[in-house]
Amino acid sequence: MNKANSKMNKSEKSLGRREFLGHSAKLAIGALTFNIAGKSTAAGAASSKKMKVALVGTGHRGTSTWGKDLIGPYSEYVGMVGLCDINPKRLEAGKRLIGTDAPSYPAKDFDRMIKETKPDAVIICTPDCFHYEHSVRAMELGCDAIVEKPLATEAEQCQQLLDTELKTGRKITTTFNARHGDTAEEIKKILLSGELGRIISSEFQEYLDIDHGASYFRRWHGKIRFSGSLLVHKASHHFDQMNWWLDAEPEEVNAFGRVAFYGKNNSFRSRNCRGCPFSDKCDFYWDIMKKERMVKLYVECEDADGYLRDGCVWDNDIDTYDTMTVEVKYNNGVLLSYSLNAYMPYEGQRIAFNGEKGRLDVRNYNRQPWEVGDKRADFRLTKSFKDTKTWIIERTKSKKAEFSHGGSDYGIKDLIIKPNQPDPLGQLAGSRAGVMSSLIGIAAHKSIETGERIKIADLIDFRSTWKW
Ligand SMILES: NC(=O)c1ccc[n+]([C@@H]2O[C@H](COP(=O)([O-])OP(=O)(O)OC[C@H]3O[C@@H](n4cnc5c(N)ncnc54)[C@H](O)[C@@H]3O)[C@@H](O)[C@H]2O)c1
Repeated sequence: MNKANSKMNKSEKSLGRREFLGHSAKLAIGALTFNIAGKSTAAGAASSKKMKVALVGTGHRGTSTWGKDLIGPYSEYVGMVGLCDINPKRLEAGKRLIGTDAPSYPAKDFDRMIKETKPDAVIICTPDCFHYEHSVRAMELGCDAIVEKPLATEAEQCQQLLDTELKTGRKITTTFNARHGDTAEEIKKILLSGELGRIISSEFQEYLDIDHGASYFRRWHGKIRFSGSLLVHKASHHFDQMNWWLDAEPEEVNAFGRVAFYGKNNSFRSRNCRGCPFSDKCDFYWDIMKKERMVKLYVECEDADGYLRDGCVWDNDIDTYDTMTVEVKYNNGVLLSYSLNAYMPYEGQRIAFNGEKGRLDVRNYNRQPWEVGDKRADFRLTKSFKDTKTWIIERTKSKKAEFSHGGSDYGIKDLIIKPNQPDPLGQLAGSRAGVMSSLIGIAAHKSIETGERIKIADLIDFRSTWKW
């Protein structure tokens, strides 16, 4: 029994795990209905006054999606009242990139920022392992938390987040922008239509390439203690999509994973790309100095904390798996087969749903212009004993394509920031969705480390969230 479960009182223990997971699932449906009614957005969104937000983590994501691209396009609805970061230089660089005159605070003065600026919500864009501590403190100080994915990197953090949400009455929103892409929405609509009948199993293969995939191993993401591994950091998008598409929650997880390509798997290595003696012969040499934004945000700030944004992909300390397979059993009986490889020559996804009336195949292409165009998704819906139907979504031609992450970053902000937005597909995600997605990755990591199959109910005590 883990720490979380050992906290259960006697009457709680008398309920079987299946029963309280079942109960929780019913509550999740209740929460979905509430969201669809447009009443369950983050603090302030439902009122007529502007939402006051403070930002912690003024790095890439904090200064773009939740910085400049928030206070500009959404100025009618939201105002930035404070900024906070552990790196004083990045704090000031970030402030300039965002274009705000909001006061800035060092990380040690997070509480003071909240007390002085009184935000309705704190937006959390720190490395993954710190999300929970800023979210918990923000809620304890009376604010809602708008948290980048993944919501948490360890099961104990999930417990603390749910307990604090319940205790304080504040609200967590997990910013799952991947629910808002064209392909994701199309899949959700097909599954909601019931054309495939009951879904019995599903498949998800993620291909990250030698550019984007490699970038995770240059940064803090390459160390499990910061990112929880790509099973948590990256796959939290995919596990959340699956949970949302299937309208189901995970029960059991089994996984294998290895660092089979990056890290120790090379004959030479250095500390980082700048000044590397092997730059001429390394296929992964990357010149950060060519990107002005990167220089401002990272290179010019690195003497304050020693963080090197162009770290060596062959670093011996890299422990984040680059190769992994995961099996998930859902509470509605669906069996998911998932894989992620982070050193592919091209990028994209294969996703499929096997239903009692047929099969849906989706091939998502990204960054492979020689083959089928840069951004496109092929759909094939085949009815058993009947016909097959194919169609394409050309994302370069879609109305969303010109915006960041195919428009999904605006889709999610519309829902969180604008008041009274309809949510017919149930795209708004709270703490439960955040926890469920993180827990699959956390369980997968644990399964790899222990060689055992992991039960989600053994990781967390959902009793404390029943009222939610
Ligand atoms: N949804 C998406 O598509 C998407 C895309 C990119 C990043 N993200 C998420 O956004 C988050 C930030 O990623 P990023 O790429 O901006 O990383 P980053 O390294 O550029 O920024 C992180 C910032 O947090 C600061 N920081 C570190 N520890 C801190 C602490 N204890 N207190 C205060 N500040 C601290 C760092 O100095 C840095 O400025 C991550 O959780 C990531 O998963 C999401």
